[in-house]
Amino acid sequence: MPASRNDWFPTSIWHFAIADHQALNATLLQEIYEEQQRDRQGEKWSNVMGWHSVNNLHERDRFSEFVKIIHEHVAEVASFMQWDLQKFSLNITTCWAIVNGKFASNSVHNHPNSILSGVYYLKAPENCGGIFFNDPRPASQMIIPPVTEFNLWTHPKISYKPHEGTMLLFPSWLLHGVDMNMSEDTRIAISFNIGMIPIKH
Ligand SMILES: [Fe+2]
Repeated sequence: MPASRNDWFPTSIWHFAIADHQALNATLLQEIYEEQQRDRQGEKWSNVMGWHSVNNLHERDRFSEFVKIIHEHVAEVASFMQWDLQKFSLNITTCWAIVNGKFASNSVHNHPNSILSGVYYLKAPENCGGIFFNDPRPASQMIIPPVTEFNLWTHPKISYKPHEGTMLLFPSWLLHGVDMNMSEDTRIAISFNIGMIPIKH
C-alpha cells in the first residue's frame, strides 16, 4: 500500500487577471506620471536604480476604482483563509508605484507589519524582470539533494513573469525581489500592503 502523506504549512500566492484593465491602467498611469514629475527623486526602499513613489497613492481620486478591486480580491483570500472578519477588518495601509527603467531591480525584502501584500502590473514589456519568491523554509536547504525535476517541494525559489492587468497577492512575510529590467522600456507596477484593524464589540 502506498504511504499516506499530509502536506502541512503551504504558502499560497494568489493571482488575478483584472477584467478590462486597459482603461483602469490608463487612469493609474496618468496619476503616476504626474507624481513622477512632482517628485523626481522618489523614495528609497527596495528599489535599486528604479523610482519609488510616496506610499499613500491609494488616497488619490484616480485610484478609487483600483482600491475597490484590491478589496474584492483581498476578501476572496480572507474567505479562503477563514479569517474571522467579525473580529477585525482589512485595510490598505500603504500603496506605492515603482518605475524600473533598464537595469533597475528590487532587492530581496518582505513587508513588516502587514498581513497581505500585493502587486499589480501596468507596464510589463518582455524581459522587464520577474518577481521571485524564495522558499520560506530556510532550514529545508541544510541539505539539497539533486533532483530529476524541481517540484513544489524542491523549488528553492519561484518567479512570476509580469503581465499587464495581473494582480498578485501574497503573505507579507514571504521574502521576494524583482529581477533586473533587461528591456529598453520601463516596467511599471503598483504595490500595496494590507493591515488589520481590530473590531471592538
Ligand atoms: Fe515587495
